[in-house]
Amino acid sequence: MNELQKRVGEIGVVPVIKLTNPQRDAGPLSDALCAGGVPVAEITFRAAGADEAMRIMVERHPDMLVGAGTVLTTEQVDKTIAAGGKFVVTPGLDPEIVKYCQEKGITCFPGCTTPTDYHTAYKLGLEVLKFFPAEQSGGLAKIKAMSAPFSMFKVMPTGGINLKNLAEYAACPVIVACGGSYMCPDKLITEGKWDEIIDLCKKSVEIVKEARK
Ligand code: 3PG
Repeated sequence: MNELQKRVGEIGVVPVIKLTNPQRDAGPLSDALCAGGVPVAEITFRAAGADEAMRIMVERHPDMLVGAGTVLTTEQVDKTIAAGGKFVVTPGLDPEIVKYCQEKGITCFPGCTTPTDYHTAYKLGLEVLKFFPAEQSGGLAKIKAMSAPFSMFKVMPTGGINLKNLAEYAACPVIVACGGSYMCPDKLITEGKWDEIIDLCKKSVEIVKEARK
């Protein structure tokens, strides 16, 4: 694992975020994540202005791990790099995007769930994969089954993870960190309920810490 992947592993959770009003919300949201002990953000390109949101967060918290999610094109990789983003998450495995990230020196977590995905990721020299959508693709049982032939990988599951099932995922040694949108729900962001987001982050960090004991 590279340094960024190790730091993601230490934090243990990765909030998956959609920001519809980055000018208004990116700054206070980054403050809340850092205050909650989760100085990492996957800003998805599901809303326009993801790069603007990343730029605002990086300027405000230079040490925070800010990256892009739902990256579907190499142009979005360029936008991420230009905004100071440090990683790229893709929902599926696109060798073109993975190779482009490798050329540009930015960490890529491609979504993988099948033996074919994992095999392709192996050939691409990857070490940490996003396992997406986790719950819907077989959850922890599938992650464990996949780790038998593909023991070289660590995974970052996202999709259907929340405070209820976080502990069982976090306890699995194959899992480097768990991603999820539950830490930053749209409603809490649009209503500016930063204290509730801080609370969700703190609870998540505590669950991961306990599960790893
Ligand atoms: C993702 O892109 O990682 C997922 O949409 C997150 O899934 P969740 O909303 O179920 O956490």
